[in-house]
Parts: sequence; C-alpha cells; structure tokens
Amino acid sequence: MCGIVGYIGARQAVEVIMDGLSRLEYRGYDSAGVAVNDGREIVIEKKKGRLQLLEEELKVKPLCGCMGIGHTRWATHGEPSDANSHPHSDETCSLAVVHNGIIENYLEIKSELKKNGVVFKSETDTEVVSHLIDFYYSGDLLDAVYKTLERVRGAYALGVIHKDRPDVLIAARKDSPLVIGVGEGENFIASDIPALLKYTKNVYLLEDGDVAVLTRDTIEVYDLQRKKVSKELTEITWDLESATKGGYPHFMIKEIYEQPHGIKETITRRLDENGLVRFDDIKLTREDLAEIESIYIVACGTAYHAGMVGRKAIEKIARIKVETDISSEFRYDTPFIDEKTLVILVSQSGETLDTLAALREAKKRGARTLAITNVMGSSIAREAEHVIYTWAGPEISVASTKAYTTQITCLFMLALDMAFKKDVLDLESYRTLLEKLKEVPEKIEAVIENEPQVRQIADKLVNVEHGFFIGRGMDYCIALEGSLKMKEISYVHTEAFAAGELKHGTIALIEPGTPVIALATQQNLFEKSISNIKEVKARGAYVIGITVEGNTLIEQVADDVLYVPRVDDLFAGLVGVVYLQLLAYHVSAMKGLDVDKPRNLAKSVTVE
Ligand code: F6R
Repeated sequence: MCGIVGYIGARQAVEVIMDGLSRLEYRGYDSAGVAVNDGREIVIEKKKGRLQLLEEELKVKPLCGCMGIGHTRWATHGEPSDANSHPHSDETCSLAVVHNGIIENYLEIKSELKKNGVVFKSETDTEVVSHLIDFYYSGDLLDAVYKTLERVRGAYALGVIHKDRPDVLIAARKDSPLVIGVGEGENFIASDIPALLKYTKNVYLLEDGDVAVLTRDTIEVYDLQRKKVSKELTEITWDLESATKGGYPHFMIKEIYEQPHGIKETITRRLDENGLVRFDDIKLTREDLAEIESIYIVACGTAYHAGMVGRKAIEKIARIKVETDISSEFRYDTPFIDEKTLVILVSQSGETLDTLAALREAKKRGARTLAITNVMGSSIAREAEHVIYTWAGPEISVASTKAYTTQITCLFMLALDMAFKKDVLDLESYRTLLEKLKEVPEKIEAVIENEPQVRQIADKLVNVEHGFFIGRGMDYCIALEGSLKMKEISYVHTEAFAAGELKHGTIALIEPGTPVIALATQQNLFEKSISNIKEVKARGAYVIGITVEGNTLIEQVADDVLYVPRVDDLFAGLVGVVYLQLLAYHVSAMKGLDVDKPRNLAKSVTVE
C-alpha cells in the first residue's frame, strides 16, 4: 500500500527519496510524488503512474534541497491522478504533507474548511490534513501538527515539512507503520525498512500516538500529550541484498526458491536440546493451555488460507476445537470469545489493518492472543500477548509465498507443542511427526526441480480465461490458495471448490477444455478424489492432477500429472502448494504481466 520516505541531511533529498520509494514499489501504488524545501519555498512534483514517469519529470524540472518527503499512493479516496497524488499542500504551498492511512472524518472537516473559503485541489482525505496544519499554524509547526491530530479521526502515518522550517521534518503515526532511520548528520523516515537499508540499519520503530521531530542531528519523539518519550534503537539484521532480486527475474520466483531454506530455519532454530519444539517468544504453559477451551485463527487472504491449514493441524494433532475467520468479518461478528479463548492472528506484514483491529477486539473481550508474523516490531507483533516470528526474511513480491509456507510450518509446530502439553500426543508420535515435518524442505526442493514440467503446463494455460481448483480436506485449503495466486498475478478467473461440492451447482460451468487443477494428495481421500476428477473429465475438462508419487492411477483420468514426493498426508499440501505457486508464476510471466506488482493490489493493506 502507500509508501512514505522522508529525508533531512546533507544529500540531495530527491535522490534519497526516489531511491527509497523505488524499494517500496512492491507495496503497490498508482502514483508518486516528492516535495522539497529548497531553502526558500516548498516545491512539489507529482505524477500519476509509475515512479519512472516521475523520475523523467524530475530530469526536466529538478528539485534541489536537502530535506523533503516523498510518497507512492495506492488510491482509496479519489481516482489515481496527478491532483490526487501526494504530497498535498495548503493554498499558498507553504507546507507539504504525505500520508498513509485514512482520515475517517475528512468530509466533515472538509466542509468546515470550505465554509471558511478554503479551496481544495484534490478528492483525497489527506488534503484536509495539509489545510488544517496551515489553519493552525502561527509560527510553531509542531503545535499546528498536534492541533491537527486532535481534529482528525482514523489511521495515519504522516510526514510534514514547512517552508519556514528548512531544519525540521515532522512525522506522526497512528495505526499505519512508520519508522525513523538514524544516520550521522542525516535522518530519515519511511513506512518500511527496505527504503532505509542503503543508508542505515539503525531505526526507531514509532508507536501509535508518537510524534517525531527530526533535524539533521537530532530526533525527538513525543506522545499525544506532548510529553517526550524515549525510544529504543533497533538494529536491522538483514541487508539490502536480501531485499533485492539477486539474479532472479522476479522477487516471486526468488521467494518460491527460498522456501526450503526458510522452512528449515523456521523448524531447526526452534528445537530444544531434546529435539522438541521450543517457542522462545511464547509462554503458553501446560496450565495456560488447560484453561483454553477454543481457538480462533483470524487473518486475511493468503494468511487466512494458512490459518485454514493451521485449523486442520491443531484439530487433528492437538484435538482442540478451532474456528477460522476472515479478519474483516471477525471484528464485526459476534464471535464467542472470552478469557478461555486463544485468538491466533496470522499476518505476514503484521500491519494489515483488519487483522490489527481483530486483535484489538479479541483483547477487549479478554481473549489470550498470539500473533504469527514475519515482521519484527510490526504493530500486530507488538500488541499481541505472544508472538511467533516466521523468519521467512523480507517478502517483497506482493503475492505471498514463503511467508505463507512458513506460517503453515509455525502452525504445525504449534499444534505439536500444544498436543504434547495437553497429553494427547505421546513422545514417540510427537518425534515421528516432527521428523516428517523436517523432511518438508527437501520434498519442496524436489518439487522445484520439476519446474520445467510446470512451465510446460503453464504454457497451456496462458490463453485461458477461467478455471477451477478442486481438492478435499487439506487439499481444499491448498486449492483455495492456488486459485488466489492464479487470480492475483495471472488475472485468470479461477475458483476453488471442495471437490465433492462442485456437482452441487458449479459443475454446470465445466465445458470442453475448461482447466481443472485437481489436488489428490490425501491417501484416505484418494479414491474419492479420483471420482471427482472423473466427474469433470466426463464434461470435457482439461485436468491437471497433483498427487503423491506412486498414485499412478491418476494418470488414467488426468491429462497432466504433477507428482509430490512421498510425504505424510498432513504435510502433503504444504509441499504440493509449491506447484500451484510455480504454475501461477509461470502463467503470469508468460503473459508478460507485472508478476511482483499485480494491478490493483498492495503488499501491506493498511486500510479497512
Ligand atoms: C496474497 C496476499 C494477501 C495477503 C493479505 C494479508 O498473495 O499476499 O492475500 O495474504 O493481504 O496480508 P498480511 O499477511 O500481511 O496480513
């Protein structure tokens, strides 16, 4: 979603800002802009479209100055256009504002300002912030920002500069991520760490309600009551290299290839001296678990699909009742949660606003909360009672792959830990299952080695418009994920169905040649899955079957077959899903689409 970069120091601000914004491109955006204080006035340049267009504009009209702010916008209020792009300003262009999030009461403020004669240039919610700051400004920029924050409702990460203060950059955060990069004789703000890594690895993670005042040499942070707060410096352990493509044509394929390593790390770094699971970052004791009567897993999109697998894992292994819910539904439903409920929030970014709101709702109702997230210090990680980090490394491609498989891995480990602590799994079975989980990385490597066959199949799907994914049990959860991947990056309209459900209506859509990707990795459901494949085959479908090695019977009913190495039923989906990621990837790449930045999507969804 929108990206923010701000700079104050001795370099040309535009160079730092444009470099930083380019590293946030993966978040998804439709327009971009920069503003600098050139020592006399605020100069703004902004453009609809890719950063490159802005870059070309800046070659013609260079902006000089050593402090400034920049933004990549993902439209929410008002179409993508030059006028709606950030930074926004007041009528005399005395200041500039960049904003991520949504100002919920902007219409009310806008009509008030209009009555006072203020003329608006855009349809955005953000523009009320710039006019309000101007309205309250009487020589003290920080005071004007505070007064504005008192008026606005909603979520924000803000960067503010003013022509009168070439020495000061102000930042504020509430419900939208913002970090401060600490340099020598220069300081930075950014909505995400990759934007800063070229310049510094030392950051302050702003909390909700923090307002920061940056000069070249100082950083002061205050709370909403204007009291100074002290911040702990965080050192980022990963480097720019891990946030670059490293020779791969796209981040997505690099991240698919990184999965065996990521899963191995996720498991082995969490084994104690007896080889059993140990989560350092959660403290759910036997006694705590004895008190937990039910579990909710709440998440959005791909993370929700990981949660569905987690549900099956916990129910099967630990025998605890689990519900799954989509974050945006959960918070407005009436879920049965109290202090005997554990709510698990799954989120790669740790910033998804709906999941964050669900977490807050769960806490309000007294539930225990556990976050599974990939981003250290993210809002969800900080606000949940317990955290398990997925350690997938930075995931840049908008389409989630390695975060998803490491989320599932964590959920399996959690299921094993819970089962053991609840005495529903004896030590021997625990060890056996853990050993099988440890084999997953090498099984995924074998799937990746079969990429040429996936490419051949992808070639047959390049021109299709519709298709289906079907599967039973765990395979159904995986089918949902495969379908989402295909839709989001390849723009092929696909739907996923529980294989037995198709004949209750949707089978009417199967025509000669309709692609059906049929997962049949579960041994106990294999014959039933074959029957479902026959049903679509009889209507002329082109069937791509995915099963485990040895199940050669499938060749009699499927047109193409992709084999997963022999693996326990529980983990077959975790291995098999990599075929679906590769398939979506190759269809997208063959169509020449923007694989890593699919249209209309954002990496981190910080609006409702
Ligand atoms: C799809 C995808 C999204 C995210 C969803 C939640 O590939 O990545 O569906 O899974 O937006 O995001 P996080 O996990 O950051 O909460």
